[in-house]
Amino acid sequence: MKIFLDTANISEIKRAVDLGLIDGVTTNPSLLSKEGREPMAQLKEIIKLVSGPVNAEVVSPDAEDMVKEAGPLVKLGKNVVIKIPMCEQGLIAVKRLAEQGIKTNVTLVFSPAQALLAAKAGASYVSPFVGRIDDIAGNGMELVEQIVTIFDNYLFKTEIIVASIRHPVHFVQSAMIGAHIATVPFGVLEKLMKHPLTDKGIDAFNKDWEKLKNTLKK
Ligand code: E4P
Repeated sequence: MKIFLDTANISEIKRAVDLGLIDGVTTNPSLLSKEGREPMAQLKEIIKLVSGPVNAEVVSPDAEDMVKEAGPLVKLGKNVVIKIPMCEQGLIAVKRLAEQGIKTNVTLVFSPAQALLAAKAGASYVSPFVGRIDDIAGNGMELVEQIVTIFDNYLFKTEIIVASIRHPVHFVQSAMIGAHIATVPFGVLEKLMKHPLTDKGIDAFNKDWEKLKNTLKK
């Protein structure tokens, strides 16, 4: 499973790139807004740091303007993927961009039917938002399972990015189900590396090592 980082924060991206674990980045208008900087400049810097796909979202309400907005974004780098919200106009924009060879990620997917339509429109990626479904007492991972089955049934090439991941269990379930990609906030990435028994084990080994060195000194 590929791992994307779900952030627009430069220091988080630098740390994740140093770890060598990151296959791409997803941003959205809220994440860019959190950084408080001119978004094109921020995206430019992100693209310099990341060799895999970098997702930049359009905000226009109609297809024609979405396609226009995509223009300067794709010029930022070959690895830019245009994120388009799931809606009628969005699907039209996906089709037009696909015809131009531009990669798209249909975002804010909350049903298997939406994912199927996005794939048929020519989306390179679809993003089911699991955490937001769980937040309203639904089952986000069930949606991912449904999309995996549908895409397998019809051999769609569209990749599934599990988004709105809140905790390591979402990440592990994504891999068990066979999603192509999980996009994780930096805090979740940190948690994935940790286990209390690992910390306890390291501590015990270090203490025993010190004990041995002290014994040998005597
Ligand atoms: C994905 O591409 C989105 O940026 C993101 O996962 C949304 O997550 P949230 O529900 O935590 O805002």
